Amino acid sequence: MQKKEIKEDVIELYGQRDWRSIVNKYHNHPDRNKLLWVFPAEEDFEFIRLNMEKLGSGEILSIGCGSGLLEWMIHEATDIPVSGVEVDGSWWACKYAPPTFIELIIASPALDYNTISLLKKPTTTILFCYFNNGPAFRQYMENFNGNVVIIIGPHSKNVYTCPEPFEDIGKEWDLHTSKEIRDSKDFIAIYVRCLDSK
Ligand SMILES: C[S@@+](CC[C@H](N)C(=O)[O-])C[C@H]1O[C@@H](n2cnc3c(N)ncnc32)[C@H](O)[C@@H]1O
Repeated sequence: MQKKEIKEDVIELYGQRDWRSIVNKYHNHPDRNKLLWVFPAEEDFEFIRLNMEKLGSGEILSIGCGSGLLEWMIHEATDIPVSGVEVDGSWWACKYAPPTFIELIIASPALDYNTISLLKKPTTTILFCYFNNGPAFRQYMENFNGNVVIIIGPHSKNVYTCPEPFEDIGKEWDLHTSKEIRDSKDFIAIYVRCLDSK
């Protein structure tokens, strides 16, 4: 029998809401980046949940969410509401694009009113996973009114991302905590706004 493609299998597991099998089967798969750059372990989702609870975060807005697979899994694993923003609506609507696992919020590259208003809610946490657009990152941060930022990305791995999990993201932000995802050299870094910066 022919082996199933990662895409087809993940879509089937998604239909069964079986996020555990998705991360366990595919975290090391050579084609995993077609759908998502990191496949956290169960304890990593728990790390996010506990910290979001401790920091009083209500929901996560993921910027540059791609297929939205990570965002869907975070929601399934933690019950935290998660939405995702992407650019280039025509690409995501075309038949060659990867499948999507959440409804994408399509933003314009120069931030539009709708996206800015999403960044203004004080209880929202913003997430950047393998984001790769420095000028856009700075624009999102300038308009962000919440107190928590999560950066997921590689550290000492020879893969370009911007922001990186441990770069200086501005003097008003302190690194609260971080965790490596398995032994992947991918890290979840959680930043909080300094108390005296508002
Ligand atoms: C390397 S991909 C990472 C996708 C996904 N987060 C993941 O981990 O698989 C970076 C994504 O950021 C998106 N992106 C780039 N500039 C953006 C912007 N200004 N606003 C929102 N998304 C943007 C790209 O379209 C791309 O899907």
